[in-house]
Amino acid sequence: MHGEKFEKFYDMKKLAEAGGGQERIEVQHSKGKLTARERIDLLLDEGTFVELDKYVTHRHDDTETKKFYGDGVITGFGRVNGRKIFLYAYDFTILGGSLGEMASKKIVKIMDKAIKVGAPLVGILDSGGARIQEGVMSLDGYGDIFYRNTTASGIIPQITASIGPCAGGAVYSPAITDFIIMVENVGQMFVTGPEVVKEVLSEDVSFEELGGAIAHSTKSGVAHFVASNEYDCMEKIKKLLSYLPQNNIDYPPSLESNDDPNRVDPNLIKILPENPYQPYDIKEIILNIVDDRDFFEIHEGFAPNLIVGFAHMGEKTIGIIANQPMVLAGALDIDSSNKASRFIRFCDSFNIPIVTLVDTPGYLPGTNQEHNGIIRHGSKLLYAYCEASVPKITCIIGKAYGGAYIAMGSKNLKADVNFAWPTAEIAVLGPEAAITIINRRELKTAKDPKATKKKLADEYRKKFANPYIAAEKGIIDLVIDPMETRPMIIQALHSMSGKKETGPWKKHGNINL
Ligand code: HXC
Repeated sequence: MHGEKFEKFYDMKKLAEAGGGQERIEVQHSKGKLTARERIDLLLDEGTFVELDKYVTHRHDDTETKKFYGDGVITGFGRVNGRKIFLYAYDFTILGGSLGEMASKKIVKIMDKAIKVGAPLVGILDSGGARIQEGVMSLDGYGDIFYRNTTASGIIPQITASIGPCAGGAVYSPAITDFIIMVENVGQMFVTGPEVVKEVLSEDVSFEELGGAIAHSTKSGVAHFVASNEYDCMEKIKKLLSYLPQNNIDYPPSLESNDDPNRVDPNLIKILPENPYQPYDIKEIILNIVDDRDFFEIHEGFAPNLIVGFAHMGEKTIGIIANQPMVLAGALDIDSSNKASRFIRFCDSFNIPIVTLVDTPGYLPGTNQEHNGIIRHGSKLLYAYCEASVPKITCIIGKAYGGAYIAMGSKNLKADVNFAWPTAEIAVLGPEAAITIINRRELKTAKDPKATKKKLADEYRKKFANPYIAAEKGIIDLVIDPMETRPMIIQALHSMSGKKETGPWKKHGNINL
């Protein structure tokens, strides 16, 4: 029955699923890359992928350009660990995954659906950028995608994997999404490629140096994660999704844990050196207090003087922000301010409570920072904390000086519960800086300047650099025994769940970008 029609159906299916053909698939494999379909299979739960627009082809006038079914991008929906997602994966075997009019329409269709139903959107990039043969219609398509990315921002989580070139227009859609994962030695993102750089600036630079995973995860901050290969990339996307809600009116899923929420650890204090100038790894403290020592760090290689990432506490997803005394003594600078601000805004958009651990000597001084805009960028951190209406719990562990004390989730920025360890040093300036100002005359006339300096600094530290002045004023809610940090934070998170906070109506604020 209907034999001929079925024959045609299977022929068409086979043809469409072959993408740019066997030869190009082999070239893709020879570059160490999987095909778009293989990538989708790795990401989604088996048998859940439903492809849409499989038979779409380009419709521009250029008769020279061969028509391929799918038009260079595979789109559809499926499930990751049982939860629905929408996705698109550029197919490099078809015209280098370049974006033409119809390919963009396919992507837009998926994006509109994801926004309508409130499900995460994953984009897998491997693309030569705007399809040159389609001229302005390709640019028109990018514009439509950027618009959807912006509309979706704050409504559904958007994740991008860069597994191949992302040239020209192909970079800006990812840039608007929430997280970018690049595969080492494979993903490359650049607005203008090495040839143009050479022509315009006479600079010799390789693809990898210009826009590889290392450059973007350490220097530009474009990439949030680096995956060692495509398998690792898909595992990272799955792990990331596991912390997130489906949309902005949903809550993140809980993760069952046998880690006792009331677990106390008398050894926790030992991580903090007695000498406040000695560095230590704040990650040790993070791992100690979260469920099962499981911390999913974001932007690991970028601005490592501040750490952000997801974890669970009491089985609930939280976002952690912590100064890292191992790098730049934990000082705040331009990059760390940007990193933390964007993370706070993500958490706030998606109902993820924020836990802040503080140990910072202040904002990093110097002409480099000032001239590159530490005032502008540093202010974002204040803005992001003030604006965030999710539960905010702060714990000051060590230094909290000056503007950095205020910026790191202080009471004035409407943190809900502010704890401090007995080791907290909360003051306008650190002892050494403070005494050079308030004891200037004494220091000038001192017979033994070194000894006098030490004596004055010790006196200052005793008098000002402690948590009790702030606790007397109620801007620290409680000075806690460090061993109780985990149960205290979990109790605080529990008490603040269901928090509702609304400010006066406005269209949107004007964060200092
Ligand atoms: C049409 C393209 C294409 C493009 C690649 N191809 N890019 N076709 N439009 N933009 C085709 C190639 O002709 C080739 O077709 C196939 O894809 C594979 O490309 P190769 O060059 O053989 O692959 P490879 O050596 O791996 O190099 C990949 C590449 C390179 C680095 C991406 O192709 C490249 O530099 N492409 C151009 C990048 C670019 O400048 N894009 C436009 C940016 S302008 P055959 O038939 O031989 O297999 C832009 C503006 C948008 O995007 C701005 C919006 C804001």
